[in-house]
Amino acid sequence: MKIMVTGATGQLGSLVVEALLKSTPADNVAVSVRDPQKAKALSDRGVDVRFGDFNQPESLVTAFAGIDRLLIISTGDLENRLQQQLAAVKAAQQANVGFIAYTSASNAAESKFILANDHRITEEAIRETGIPYSMLRNNWYIENEIGSIQAVLNGAPWVTAIGPGKIGYASRGDFAEAAAIVLAGEGHDNTVYELAGKPSTQEEFVAIIADVTGRQVDVQQVNDETYASVMSNVGMPEAMIPFLVAIQGGLRDGGMDVESEDLPKLLGRETKPLKDVIQLIVSNIQQ
Ligand SMILES: NC(=O)c1ccc[n+]([C@@H]2O[C@H](COP(=O)([O-])OP(=O)(O)OC[C@H]3O[C@@H](n4cnc5c(N)ncnc54)[C@H](OP(=O)(O)O)[C@@H]3O)[C@@H](O)[C@H]2O)c1
Repeated sequence: MKIMVTGATGQLGSLVVEALLKSTPADNVAVSVRDPQKAKALSDRGVDVRFGDFNQPESLVTAFAGIDRLLIISTGDLENRLQQQLAAVKAAQQANVGFIAYTSASNAAESKFILANDHRITEEAIRETGIPYSMLRNNWYIENEIGSIQAVLNGAPWVTAIGPGKIGYASRGDFAEAAAIVLAGEGHDNTVYELAGKPSTQEEFVAIIADVTGRQVDVQQVNDETYASVMSNVGMPEAMIPFLVAIQGGLRDGGMDVESEDLPKLLGRETKPLKDVIQLIVSNIQQ
């Protein structure tokens, strides 16, 4: 059985491959990457490294040839990713892939969250292929907050427009391990997993940062307008600011407030505690 991971030189993909290699011989693992040189360490370990660029659909048909179980990792190119992901789904069908797992977003089918639309359409395209699938609806990486944690360590307050919105934070490593379990395991055909940790408010999340760092951290709940000017003052590109504000609004409206046991069930253990992951982030920043 040949298992393939796309985006394997990215942060999530590389963790998925590492998790897979713990249970699966390297001969059975393949990756599709846009720069095979970046994956040289994997080819040295016996992983089948293939070139595949989501902007070159024909490269994907070749890359996916002979693959039984494929993980399509959503790309981060927000302007083009829908087209890219649809190209990957089509290529998977043309290459007769036997199973598609896809890193989606919370409640993708119904969510109004700005980030969900591309995922909803990609999920629909996957279903339409008739290929057995697993939608891995990843909630919010704890690691998304590294920049804000760094700012807190430099004495900044925690500025947020999320209000009472809760987020089902989990570590990128836990999402990766769950993906590897689905890829290498059985019984996941036509499944939708809402992968999330226990939802936290910003105050609850920041209390853990305060505990870990031994500092008092002020949470400043601001409106969208103030949030936009704070982002501008810290040097965010102006073109990005409406998008960042929309994300805050989506989180405030509960876009990531998902209660689900799917992640611990798949992992066969509790998700890594927020405190442990934040502790690791803080240690890495302080090194
Ligand atoms: N749930 C969350 O909180 C959250 C947060 C951030 C992102 N995401 C989503 O989850 C995905 C994985 O997260 P991540 O942290 O691993 O992001 P990442 O490190 O940016 O990885 C994205 C991967 O997509 C690959 N990629 C981009 N454009 C491509 C193209 N045209 N053809 C082929 N591959 C392409 C990149 O290839 P290279 O290695 O060559 O750059 C990279 O491997 C992101 O892309 C995004 O869709 C989710």
